Formats: sequence, C-alpha cells, structure tokens
Amino acid sequence: MTALVKLTGVSKAYGHVRALEDVSLEVHAGEITCVLGDNGAGKSTLIKIIAGLHQHDRGSYEIEGAPVRHASPREALDHGIATVYQDLAVVPLMPVWRNFFLGSEPRKGRGPFKRLDVAMMRETTRTALRDMGIDLRDVDQPIGTLSGGQRQCVAIARAVHFGAKVLILDEPTAALGVRQSGVVLKYVAAARDAGLGVVLITHNPHHAHLVGDRFVLLRRGTMTGSYTRDGITVDELTREMAGGTDLEALAHELRRPAP
Ligand SMILES: Nc1ncnc2c1ncn2[C@@H]1O[C@H](COP(=O)(O)OP(=O)(O)OP(=O)(O)O)[C@@H](O)[C@H]1O
Ligand SMILES: [Mg+2]
Repeated sequence: MTALVKLTGVSKAYGHVRALEDVSLEVHAGEITCVLGDNGAGKSTLIKIIAGLHQHDRGSYEIEGAPVRHASPREALDHGIATVYQDLAVVPLMPVWRNFFLGSEPRKGRGPFKRLDVAMMRETTRTALRDMGIDLRDVDQPIGTLSGGQRQCVAIARAVHFGAKVLILDEPTAALGVRQSGVVLKYVAAARDAGLGVVLITHNPHHAHLVGDRFVLLRRGTMTGSYTRDGITVDELTREMAGGTDLEALAHELRRPAP
C-alpha cells in the first residue's frame, strides 16, 4: 500500500545548526507512527516540514507517492495534513464551538447580510464531539475552561471532522497526568480507527508503545532507529530512548558513596 506520507533521507539545517540529518519515515492510513526523542532531537522540526511550516534542504517528501514541497501550512492543509501544535492555537475566551470552526466558519445569507450560522455551528460541534465519544456538557463554555486533555480532544475531533487524511500531534500528552493522557490516547486511537494516518510525537515510550504501529527514534537530529510494532518491545523502546548506557552511567554517578 502506498504511504500517505513518506519522507526519505530528509535533512534540515537552521543556519549552521543541523536540526535533522538523513531521517526517513512513513505514515499509513489507519496507523499511528510515533516519533520519539529527547529535547532538541529534531521532533518538532520534522513535523514542521510535514506541516509545511519549513522546507527540507535534502531528501524527498512524498504524499501518496507524489513528491511535494509545501510552501506554506495552507498548502499542506489542502493536501489533507492537519497539525495540532503543543501550544494549541485557541482563543481561550471564545466558546468551544467557535474554536471548533475557527478559520472555517460557514456563513448564511448573502452580500452584506452574510452572518455566522451560529445554530448550525453549535449543533455540528456537539455532533462531531459526540461521534468521537467526547462527552462535553456544554459547547458554549469558553474553551479556556476545559482541561488540557479535553482541549487536545476537541482539536483531534476538529481534524477528523474537517476531513484530514493525516493528523500530526506534537506531544499531546506532555503536560498531562496519567488519566488525562489515557483519554487523549483513546481519541488518538479513534482518529486512527476513522482511517487517518497519525503522527504522534512523544517523549514517553510507554504512551508510544500503547498505540504505535511504527516508531522512529531521533537523537540530536539523526535517526537512531526505526521499527514496526512487532520489531520492538516497550522495554527495548524505553532503553533506546534513555540511551541505555547513558542511563546506567547516570545511575552509577547518582549512587551514594559508601560511608
Ligand atoms: N527556528 C530555529 N532556528 C534555529 N535553530 C532551531 C530552530 N528551531 C529548532 N532549532 C534547533 O534545532 C534542533 C532541533 O530542535 P527541535 O525543536 O526540532 O527539537 P525537539 O525534538 O522538538 O525538542 P523538544 O523536545 O525540546 O521540543 C535544536 O538544536 C534547536 O535548538
Ligand atoms: Mg519540540
């Protein structure tokens, strides 16, 4: 099957900082590709290339087999690539339904009498959230009153509703506790089940292994490993992430000296 997104040998430098060097990954419909790596590993740079915010210097980027080079996030979006950034671009004081439609508001009437079709937006938001199994009491509440996890869920439902083919999530569970992380991962899986190809960026090997079909490990801009689900256990993933021997050396350093 042709990959929805395929990067091959992609490199990117910011001035003389080599943020990515020879990185490859595939995203398939109905699958979750996890990108793991420590701070500064190049995870955000990688998704910014997929999302059209940055361009790669070398290598190739294909969507459904055709080479692309997005000049803007708008172009990526037109190719069905939706991105939920970690800092979620929401307007906290606006109601949930208003944020759901932000930038793609349907209008009613003609000419100067055009106005926002509020009733329809409320109802659509309610239905879209319900279809994803998201139970929100009131779509009129300001989105700022939702928990971080709930906001991620609204963003995921929004991408599914507006027909994204690929959904990119930059550390959706980074700031969340165990329970809320579980809820977000459930909706990540729901997006997968709706047939989207998902890219999940995370620091957490346990979260990755719970839902991931493919795993790409980055360290200081280079790819240190690429696995499919049957190719790696959660323990191996954890060890790879921690840099195995680095962690053992640290454990040794932190040990109390014998009295
Ligand atoms: N706009 C930029 N200009 C210059 N250097 C940058 C820029 N963005 C990122 N970098 C550098 O590129 C490298 C990779 O950064 P990137 O943000 O992709 O890492 P990351 O894996 O997302 O890290 P984190 O887990 O902290 O979010 C880092 O060394 C970073 O300092
Ligand atoms: Mg980042």
